[in-house]
Order: sequence, then C-alpha cells, then structure tokens
Amino acid sequence: PQLDVRFDVGELIGRVPLFVGLPEERIAAFATLLHPRLALPGETIVRLGDRGDAMFFIASGAVEVLVPNLAEPVKLGTGDFFGEMALLTRQRRNADVRAMGYCQLLVLDEKDFRRLVQKDANLRTHFQAVAEARRQQPAQP
Ligand code: CMP
Repeated sequence: PQLDVRFDVGELIGRVPLFVGLPEERIAAFATLLHPRLALPGETIVRLGDRGDAMFFIASGAVEVLVPNLAEPVKLGTGDFFGEMALLTRQRRNADVRAMGYCQLLVLDEKDFRRLVQKDANLRTHFQAVAEARRQQPAQP
C-alpha cells in the first residue's frame, strides 16, 4: 500500500489552537498562505545556523528541538509552531528541529509571515511572547 500524502489544509488548520475560533474569512486567508508538507521520521526540518526562510505549524506528529546549551531536547507536538525566532530576529536558526515520526506541517513562507505580522499586531505579539519564553529557558551549566 502506498502512503497517502494528500492533505486538506483547511482540515489541518483546525488542529492548530492559534487558528481555532477565528472568523471564517481569516481561516480562509490563512489557508491560502499555508503550504502542507510531510516530514519523514528523523528528518531535520530546521538546521542550526541556517538563514530562516519560513516558520512551521505542527498539524500532527511531534518534533524535537535540539538547542545547543540545553541538556535535553525540547519536544513540540500537534498545535505547536517553530521557526518563528529567526524570522522575528533576522538571526540564524538557533537550534536543529527534527521530526520524531511522520509529521504533517503547515509552512508559512517568510514573505507571507512578514505581511501577516505587519497587518496583525496580536499575531505578532503572540509569536514574540512564545519566542521570548523559549529564549528564557535556563541554560544548563
Ligand atoms: P528558529 O531559531 O527560527 O529555528 C529553531 C527553532 O527552534 C526556533 O526558531 C524556535 O522555534 C525553536 N526553539 C528554539 N529554542 C527553543 C526552546 N527552548 N523551546 C522550544 N522551541 C525552541
């Protein structure tokens, strides 16, 4: 049997809390910007030191974030996002992000990210708050 890799973006969006409860027309607008992508088990989706050109929402599955000065990988799952830091700060990727199994992702390209956060201050504040909390995670001695 072949692996079925077709996704319905509209259905996947419904699994990301950030988008749930938004008015119909906003969901439709997001749906046109988000690109579905299947990550394979063990695949490195984001690489430490790379330039950031997109951010990612996890519609299903889990990833581990390997932050250089953290002893333990940070696990993110369905509904979480990653890759926002490099876009917000215009700095390089600060961690490797690796798929722990098959992961259905929704990809938001940098240019669409910039347009969105320029138009939507609440969204920008939300991304910034999550990025800030991640930065505050204590470094291991
Ligand atoms: P970015 O720097 O673009 O690429 C690596 C991503 O890993 C980063 O954005 C965050 O989305 C994520 N990340 C980095 N540090 C943490 C952390 N401490 N906890 C959770 N996610 C993180």
